[in-house]
Amino acid sequence: TVLVVDFGAQYAQLIARRVRECHVYSEIVPSTMPAAEMLAKKPKAIILSGGPASVYEEGAPIAPDGLFDLAVPTLGICYGHQVMAQALGGTVENSEVAEYGGATIAVTDPGVLFDGQPDEQAVWMSHRDFVSRAPEGFTVTARTEVTPVAGMEDPERGFYGVQFHPEVLHTEHGMEVLRRFLYEGAGCRPSWTMVNIAEEQIEAIRAQVGDKRAICGLSGGVDSAVAAALVQRAIGDQLTCVFVDHGLLRKGEPEQVEKDFVAATGVNLHVVDAQERFLDALAGVVDPEEKRKIIGREFIRVFEAAAREIAFGDRSEARIAEGGSSRGSGGSSPRGRQGEDAAEPVEFLVQGTLYPDVVESGGGTGAANIKSHHNVGGLPDDLQFRLVEPLRALFKDEVRALGEQLGLPAEIVWRQPFPGPGLGIRIIGEVTRERLDILRDADAIAREELTRAGLDREVWQFPVVLLADVRSVGVQGDGRTYGHPVVLRPVTSEDAMTADWARLPYDVLQKISTRITNEVREINRVVVDVTSKPPGTIEWE
Ligand code: XMP
Repeated sequence: TVLVVDFGAQYAQLIARRVRECHVYSEIVPSTMPAAEMLAKKPKAIILSGGPASVYEEGAPIAPDGLFDLAVPTLGICYGHQVMAQALGGTVENSEVAEYGGATIAVTDPGVLFDGQPDEQAVWMSHRDFVSRAPEGFTVTARTEVTPVAGMEDPERGFYGVQFHPEVLHTEHGMEVLRRFLYEGAGCRPSWTMVNIAEEQIEAIRAQVGDKRAICGLSGGVDSAVAAALVQRAIGDQLTCVFVDHGLLRKGEPEQVEKDFVAATGVNLHVVDAQERFLDALAGVVDPEEKRKIIGREFIRVFEAAAREIAFGDRSEARIAEGGSSRGSGGSSPRGRQGEDAAEPVEFLVQGTLYPDVVESGGGTGAANIKSHHNVGGLPDDLQFRLVEPLRALFKDEVRALGEQLGLPAEIVWRQPFPGPGLGIRIIGEVTRERLDILRDADAIAREELTRAGLDREVWQFPVVLLADVRSVGVQGDGRTYGHPVVLRPVTSEDAMTADWARLPYDVLQKISTRITNEVREINRVVVDVTSKPPGTIEWE
């Protein structure tokens, strides 16, 4: 394990991801964690992250007492570099001139971190304070015009510091610097690979679940699919997946779950066709938050009924609650559907919780991080499950790699994020079956052309929004039309917190526009949303 000590939220996660890209397992810990507790995690190395504070500000986060006496190789980055310098007797000063953005370092001594690299390197900087004098025993390895100690190290004691951000892509040799620290400076081995992750997790799931049964709700998204596939590998038929078809998914998505996913994993799938039920509940509703509430509530009710049915073979109640029909799939009949004799209760609920959720909710182990909407936190008391969260240690890109490793279809593994309420919040106005069909057709064309242009992995999300209550005049063929506009909303983003509108090539936009107006009869106008977030959100509702 490499511990990434977090001095300021947004820096640590990226460092942890980069370490894992070097195939070394990393974990984020708060800077308030006592050194003894860190040592108990048996770290091979420690990385001190950047942070927004200034080391001599009142209350600025400092390294835990005794951190530098642990005899664990340590790399300080940016603020972490300054913390290290100050703690070991160097000097940190405040400069008139800040360095934000691109800069060039001159390597004055390659030492361990810069060995084999060019003497001049483009790096990414973000600081005003700087280390003016390295602590005793350190060699200064790099400088810039304004920063005399941009790199320093004392390999004897295993201390390394860099003022720039090696984790950022704009730092030319950043990954090489990290790799050299991990492999040469700390003696780490590249053992964090997808094969190992899968094997370890499968073992852990078996140990946790034993011969008990588990259920998992599938949303069609990446996380729940990978979690389910992993648990299926571990416990086979003891797992039943539930897929609630609420009718708000995009074209082809229910089939991806019901056919492709089942074919790839052999999982027991219990499908609940609840389309009517959701449409009835949404009739006449136009307020976005109201829609979300209704969809969330109905989802929990349907999931609960299905869970009850699977767990206790309780058909009667399930049928009432569903207001729809359930259809089995995948050729195997889930045990719970066999009625009375399937009374062995389901003890575990599988959730696709990811590492960022864990970090953001305080990182406590065992805390139930239940995701919004797919959330079954509202299940009644007699349906209390213990959670299985096999993705708790993983970042999104690792989940995708694991999905590929497990042989899941690319359409599922590379699916863009999609909101839980689905197309329900992409129809501005009341949700009806006709409107859903129109939007589904337009959306399918947009996605198809984006994929054809090879841009689907660059674009973070591509909502297509139907302005169902707006009519626009058009001319098609010889006649005047009075149809509806759709909005294309392609965005780029890192984490959905902020986003920018994607600059799609004109010819791709033109293709999408022509095809939608030609092929979807009710639509006679296609517009592009060019608002960043903030101020606009990604979704329109
Ligand atoms: P906004 O529109 O707020 O969306 O910029 C940020 C991200 O969240 C997704 N989103 C949702 N996901 N339930 C979800 O599960 C919701 O109600 C919901 N609303 C928005 C959105 O697609 C984007 O990825």
